[in-house]
Amino acid sequence: MQLSLPDETATLALGARLAAGVRPGMAVWLVGDLGAGKTTLTRGLLRALGHGGRVKSPTYTLVEIYPFSSFNLYHFDLYRFIDPEEWEEAGFREYFNPESICLVEWPEKGGAILPLPDLEIRLEIDGEGRLARLYGRTEEGRRCVEDISESGSA
Ligand SMILES: Nc1ncnc2c1ncn2[C@@H]1O[C@H](COP(=O)(O)OP(=O)(O)OP(=O)(O)O)[C@@H](O)[C@H]1O
Ligand SMILES: [Mg+2]
Repeated sequence: MQLSLPDETATLALGARLAAGVRPGMAVWLVGDLGAGKTTLTRGLLRALGHGGRVKSPTYTLVEIYPFSSFNLYHFDLYRFIDPEEWEEAGFREYFNPESICLVEWPEKGGAILPLPDLEIRLEIDGEGRLARLYGRTEEGRRCVEDISESGSA
């Protein structure tokens, strides 16, 4: 599935559509250059899930935790990730479990420490706007892409 996102509002809207498709247990990779819109997409998703507060980029903290009534959402940014030992010690591995949704910016920086994603979203700068490509990597991920493509006109 491929989508043109002409402005920030369109990225937020794709995040909101994603909210209708993600389920606890899913891991979502957000791949794209600096400024491609990964955090913006996450913000749209969190708002649609009912999070009323801020959504800050977890560049320095590696992860921000958003507790919802029936699951936790973990938003990772591995741009500055260097120490696989820290990953184990901090218990981040356990964050990937059937009761949580994990979104990961810069998954390529995590390499083999990360489990495989259900869904991969690739964002690309495209003139003034962005281009999004969605890939379902598991059955659950493919179901999610179907839900998202049925939820919008694009
Ligand atoms: N579809 C879009 N068209 C134009 N600008 C956009 C679009 N989506 C997001 N932006 C803008 O791009 C900028 C960077 O967005 P964002 O912080 O989400 O990027 P990022 O991929 O998380 O970057 P980083 O890798 O640095 O964390 C923001 O100013 C945001 O408003
Ligand atoms: Mg970001």
